[in-house]
Amino acid sequence: MPASCRVVVLISGNGSNLQAILDGCDDNLNAEVVGVISNKPDAYGLIRAHYSEIDTSCVIARKGEAREEYDIRLAACIEKYQPDLIVLAGFMRILSDDFVGRYLGKMINIHPSLLPKYTGLNTHQRAIDAKDKAHGTSVHFVIPELDAGPVVLQAKVPIYAEDDAEILAERVHEQEHAIYPLVVKWFSLGRLEMKQNQAYLDGALIGPNGYAPD
Ligand code: GAR
Repeated sequence: MPASCRVVVLISGNGSNLQAILDGCDDNLNAEVVGVISNKPDAYGLIRAHYSEIDTSCVIARKGEAREEYDIRLAACIEKYQPDLIVLAGFMRILSDDFVGRYLGKMINIHPSLLPKYTGLNTHQRAIDAKDKAHGTSVHFVIPELDAGPVVLQAKVPIYAEDDAEILAERVHEQEHAIYPLVVKWFSLGRLEMKQNQAYLDGALIGPNGYAPD
């Protein structure tokens, strides 16, 4: 078994995915969350981290600061923790190409849609408005193009006629909390990697909709 994977989690808000990963770490993910970084000082995820006695940092954007400058400060903060994996868990900032390039193959994100559908914001409402029958969530490696990196794992949920965005978001969240810790575990065990913009599990190429067992 490889040495425990040092994980830094980036958040902006509630941090329920952070919590699922913290709970998973107690449950033998072979990973240790060594730091939680928020761009928002009032993110509830920071309180969750405190409860779990995890070191936290805030990197708050300065007025008029260029994205690249912010990302240099963010990377400096990340480096303090010497992570093996960076987990974006509701971190609501677009990242500069240099920043993404620095962590290519070592940074994963969870996005609340069945990618490539609905990149960007308001995914739940957009799925309802499009009268989709199904919606979901995707974990993917991060590449410079927004929400476009190779998908590792997706989870699908139904959309019912009476759903509003809030109810649908809750249904999606439940799935997120199941799949994100699993992907962290795969990475921590050395089973998951990105090569030439494609994701591999145990050396086998993962298909466009994420890992699907036979
Ligand atoms: C999650 O639903 C995640 O998929 C989404 O933010 C939420 C964070 O919830 N991420 C994005 O929209 C990124 N594009 P949480 O703070 O409770 O984990």
